[in-house]
Amino acid sequence: MKRTIVITGGAGFIGSHVVRLFVNKYPEYKIINLDKLTYAGNLANLKDIEGKPNYQFVKMDICDFESVLKLMQDEKVDGVIHLAAESHVDRSIKDPFTFAKTNVMGTLSMLQAAKVYWESLPEKYEGKRFYHISTDEVYGALEITDPAGVEPPFSTKASSGEHHLAYGTKFFTEDLKYQPHSPYSAAKASSDHFVRAYHDTYGLPVVVTNCSNNYGPYQFPEKLIPLFINNIRHEKPLPVYGKGENVRDWLYVEDHARAIDLIFHKGKVAETYNIGGFNEWKNIDLIKVLIKTVDRLLGKPEGTSDHLITYVTDRAGHDLRYAIDSTKLQKELGWEPSLQFEEGIEKTVRWYLDNQAWMDNVTSGDYQKYYDDMYKNR
Ligand code: NAD
Ligand code: TYD
Repeated sequence: MKRTIVITGGAGFIGSHVVRLFVNKYPEYKIINLDKLTYAGNLANLKDIEGKPNYQFVKMDICDFESVLKLMQDEKVDGVIHLAAESHVDRSIKDPFTFAKTNVMGTLSMLQAAKVYWESLPEKYEGKRFYHISTDEVYGALEITDPAGVEPPFSTKASSGEHHLAYGTKFFTEDLKYQPHSPYSAAKASSDHFVRAYHDTYGLPVVVTNCSNNYGPYQFPEKLIPLFINNIRHEKPLPVYGKGENVRDWLYVEDHARAIDLIFHKGKVAETYNIGGFNEWKNIDLIKVLIKTVDRLLGKPEGTSDHLITYVTDRAGHDLRYAIDSTKLQKELGWEPSLQFEEGIEKTVRWYLDNQAWMDNVTSGDYQKYYDDMYKNR
């Protein structure tokens, strides 16, 4: 095998798309999916590639430093793509300790294992790479601004100079100061700092990316898009936090996976790249698109499920607007999102409607109780 790469969190939403892409595209690489299989990890996400000769699954906790180090030594790992994390803001509000443990201590354990193993080799860090996947949420929240009385979304310029429909005139760029607000984003921010510290202190060849909200197949249905598709299908209420006016910047998950592939191979050591498709949506507008699409695909007249919209108590510390400026990635490495949002949403809704067995499997048992408790008091 030409390379051996450990992908952590490969049984989760984004990780499964990254594992699939690497296993199919690089038969000459050995791809090891290291995952603890928490509630969010599901090997059914990878059924189509589980028998491939260049793929191996290892059930392991990233916090278990000794086991991670042994795996790196035994398998002669030369690349790490680190996605494993606790990823849901609402859970982080209820249980911040788990987020600090997995996202901070787990990342530290991965970094230290890579450092100890690679420093023990004659060539040391040559040909090695530690790629840390992070989020735009570390930058905090942007304002919704209204230039000269124009109703948002309005056309504005990102640093590329190109016009985009946006809800404000500012964007997250790589040089912004971190200002995380939720326990989730605080833990991710902390892990990003550790990654950079390992480069600055020990010379570990790291690269970091911060991506906007992803959507697509295999996302755990506690997140907005799969949760709402499933609830519309089952005629259950759609809990819209606050007034539904928060803005998120959505990227199709396969476009994120393609960016990860490109940056893993071509990104510069110690650099940070923002990943996003200049695709801002106010939650309530996105929810209306979801309702329309699900109703249409189920053969129901337009407007059938509108009554399911239920405004509930806002999320504590709810960030108002996220908007990524991915000019650097587009200009330096030539990445561009491949899908228009309407196309991506259509594909996504179809996938969830066609894969009810997957949905039933992940929403059975403990998860249903968690969901009911979570929304009982909203
Ligand atoms: P996810 O919650 O769907 O999957 C997380 C995976 O990590 C699961 O398979 C889980 O079993 C595994 N995991 C959790 N704790 C672990 C541990 N201690 N040891 C080993 N494995 C463990 O998450 P996701 O949405 O796919 O996000 C993946 C990464 O991308 C995260 O680092 C997240 O911060 C980042 N990210 C996500 C988004 C998004 O919109 N989902 C956007 C930007 C960045
Ligand atoms: P989510 O998918 O949890 O992603 P994130 O919090 O990381 O952006 O939520 C996306 C947006 O949708 C966010 O503004 C919160 C909102 N939201 C709801 O209004 N209701 C819900 O039930 C959920 C899960 C999210």
